[in-house]
Amino acid sequence: MIKNKIIIDTDPGQDDAVALLLALASKELEILGITCVAGNVPLSLTSENARKILELTRYTEIPVFAGADRPIKRTLVTAEHVHGKTGIDGPVLEKPKIKLQSKEAIEFIIETILSYPKDEITLCTLGPLTNIGLAFQREPRIKTLIKEIIMMGGGFFEGGNITPAAEFNIYVDPEAAAEVLVSGIPITMLPLDVTHKALTSRSRIESFRKIGNKAGIATAEMLDFFERFDVEKYGSEGGPLHDPNVIAYLLRPEFYEGKYVNVEIEVGSDLTRGMTVVDWWSVTTRKKNVYYIDKVKDEEFFNFLIERIKLL
Ligand code: RIB
Ligand code: CA
Repeated sequence: MIKNKIIIDTDPGQDDAVALLLALASKELEILGITCVAGNVPLSLTSENARKILELTRYTEIPVFAGADRPIKRTLVTAEHVHGKTGIDGPVLEKPKIKLQSKEAIEFIIETILSYPKDEITLCTLGPLTNIGLAFQREPRIKTLIKEIIMMGGGFFEGGNITPAAEFNIYVDPEAAAEVLVSGIPITMLPLDVTHKALTSRSRIESFRKIGNKAGIATAEMLDFFERFDVEKYGSEGGPLHDPNVIAYLLRPEFYEGKYVNVEIEVGSDLTRGMTVVDWWSVTTRKKNVYYIDKVKDEEFFNFLIERIKLL
């Protein structure tokens, strides 16, 4: 089988953690490295959490790198109110034994992309886009070599989740997001418009717990904690499971629907900072730069996730 070579850029985060577990369980993927960024919690915690998640599996040799500890221009905004103090509150996980790589994440991203032929590597981004934006600034050549970027971020019909206008990943580093969206690289965006249709529920969380392996039990405990914020906020039965949709799209694109549109990022206004301005009805002649996903077959998504986590 020809494996899809990916780099996962992430700010774990309970939903990032489940996305990592899905990728680790999927033989179709070759994870070249996991690069961590400040986002849900500071970099010291996101880079620790990624290693804690690897140690729930047998795939502890996958290299983990620390990247940017703050956005390109803005002051870091974190989301402990959603994810808890550790960033993956819920299960009690040991301090990781795995060490961080000494190489800095942005160097790893640049060197890896330059060392492979064109269109071999897909970037899967689960957090603020700071590492990616900085890599493009430091070595613009990589923009011509990357096969695709599949990112969780943005929102339009659903509005925002950190402000009325903006989704968290874009809000934290709008300048980095703008760099990515004008890069010319094929981009698939999984925004709140689709992740808000992939809601956890008591029965879905119990299905993870019933798997009975470390990964399944930890997933249930993380989602028990993670969903409480959105249940209170939206009055829904469960919380949106954002990041695993990035990996699920890569593996099962048939679960998803979207359309090619123009998306631009608000970087000037304080009121709408980080808003993804989506030209859904093509009212402008702006270049269609994003495949914007707005629908998911949520039952198939969760069944797929459960089946894969059983393999860990
Ligand atoms: O807005 C949701 C996104 O922000 C998810 O990636 C979550 O992990 C946080 O990073
Ligand atoms: Ca995330």
